[in-house]
Amino acid sequence: MELRSLYREPERRTDVTFGALEFHDVFRIFRSGPAETVALRGLDLRIEPGELVALFGPSGSGKSTALHLAAGLEEASAGDVVVFGRSLAWLGEAELAAYRAGDVALVFQSGNLWPSLSARENVLVGRLYGRDRHAAGDATAEADRLLSLVGLQGRGNVPATQLTLIDRKRLELARALATAPKLLLLDEFMAGLNPVETAEAMAVIRLLQTQGLSVLMVEHIVWALMDLCGRLIVLSAGEKIAEGTPAAVAADPAVLDAYLGGDVKAARRA
Ligand SMILES: Nc1ncnc2c1ncn2[C@@H]1O[C@H](COP(=O)(O)OP(=O)(O)O)[C@@H](O)[C@H]1O
Ligand SMILES: [Mg+2]
Repeated sequence: MELRSLYREPERRTDVTFGALEFHDVFRIFRSGPAETVALRGLDLRIEPGELVALFGPSGSGKSTALHLAAGLEEASAGDVVVFGRSLAWLGEAELAAYRAGDVALVFQSGNLWPSLSARENVLVGRLYGRDRHAAGDATAEADRLLSLVGLQGRGNVPATQLTLIDRKRLELARALATAPKLLLLDEFMAGLNPVETAEAMAVIRLLQTQGLSVLMVEHIVWALMDLCGRLIVLSAGEKIAEGTPAAVAADPAVLDAYLGGDVKAARRA
């Protein structure tokens, strides 16, 4: 037999596309002395470009850890975090710094504003750390554009401390957007808002998604997620236990079990 006949052209795959964010069998293990906490245990997930997905799960299930890994603030102990086709583990220090400063933005639950600065200055500081450093004139106009986008038009001179909680949240978003990220990560962004404010926050997040951002948000407010997200990913003890539309996930026995656990089982037995 001629050897040539064994040769086959490598398959040209045209169906391979990159997600905005992909986790491949990701582990995150915290060690302190002999103690070991496995915060993420072989997590796989994928967010498509332009998608808005919520990460859901009981306290301590690894949601914030997943966001920190996606933001390049922590490294996976094993597995691969891939953002728009780039594996973060392969980035050098400088590339990783550029990634953190530009491609991705993480809004922390605790808030991270400069209290002594005005709303506009907070956005400008965000921009200063970003990758596009425009001339000062440009930057101010761009800051004002972002303030308008999130519903803070005309409030640029107001000190951050004088804003209400919902307006501080708006400002957090404007500042996160100052670096023109492609992937936005929100950690319990709506915590502490009343229902009216929650609806306002949802409107802004939806607007950002329509502008092409990919969003992964950790959130507990179920009614908001039902309305906002096409897809939910549910974690429990560092593992994905469910994934799907909010309605499907809400009806999933594994999810009920993760939240109510022993209580439900005991009630059923009683
Ligand atoms: N820096 C850390 N050092 C040690 N353990 C941590 C650290 N960060 C998180 N953990 C642990 O990892 C687990 C997941 O935490 P986290 O990702 O914050 O959960 P969630 O955001 O779902 O509440 C918890 O058991 C937590 O105590
Ligand atoms: Mg958390």
